[in-house]
Amino acid sequence: MNSSADEPLHGMMLSRQMKPKFVSTSLVLITAVGISIVSLQAKVIGTQKGRTAAQLYSRYCSSCHGRDGRSQTSKGKYGHARDLTDAKWQDDVSDERIYNSIMHGRNGGGNMPGFANKLKEKEANALVEMIRGLRR
Ligand code: HEC
Repeated sequence: MNSSADEPLHGMMLSRQMKPKFVSTSLVLITAVGISIVSLQAKVIGTQKGRTAAQLYSRYCSSCHGRDGRSQTSKGKYGHARDLTDAKWQDDVSDERIYNSIMHGRNGGGNMPGFANKLKEKEANALVEMIRGLRR
């Protein structure tokens, strides 16, 4: 009889002991899930957004064409870089030509390097759009 009276007490003690363990295990799990969600989000944002046209322009283009596109930097003037804001040029040129000049370079009055090894198609298209916005 003694042992059967002990039984429930023993059981209660066991479950009381298990509680902190259960709580700490779920905390570890929640933390792990939280961390993986955050890192997954960072990955998705990183690949979806990529580099913006403004970031690309200031990294690859502004040294010659200047922040405003007028190509009045010393490098731009020396290399005869085109004034990208020029309305007449903007009207004459097609998106395709701008795209090709960015990707493969252009050797007309000056010498512009191509960026096909640095830019994705999507990024070059974003730059074409941005350059269209420079028209003055
Ligand atoms: C090393 C200097 C230099 C850099 C860097 C440079 N360009 Fe140029 N860019 C030039 C020169 C020089 C020309 C004029 C080329 C010509 O017509 O002979 C030019 C011309 C252009 C044109 C006119 C092309 C056409 O078909 O009329 C566009 C558009 C252009 N650049 C965009 C860009 C973009 C976008 C970037 C950055 C991804 C860039 N450039 C980086 C020097 C540069």
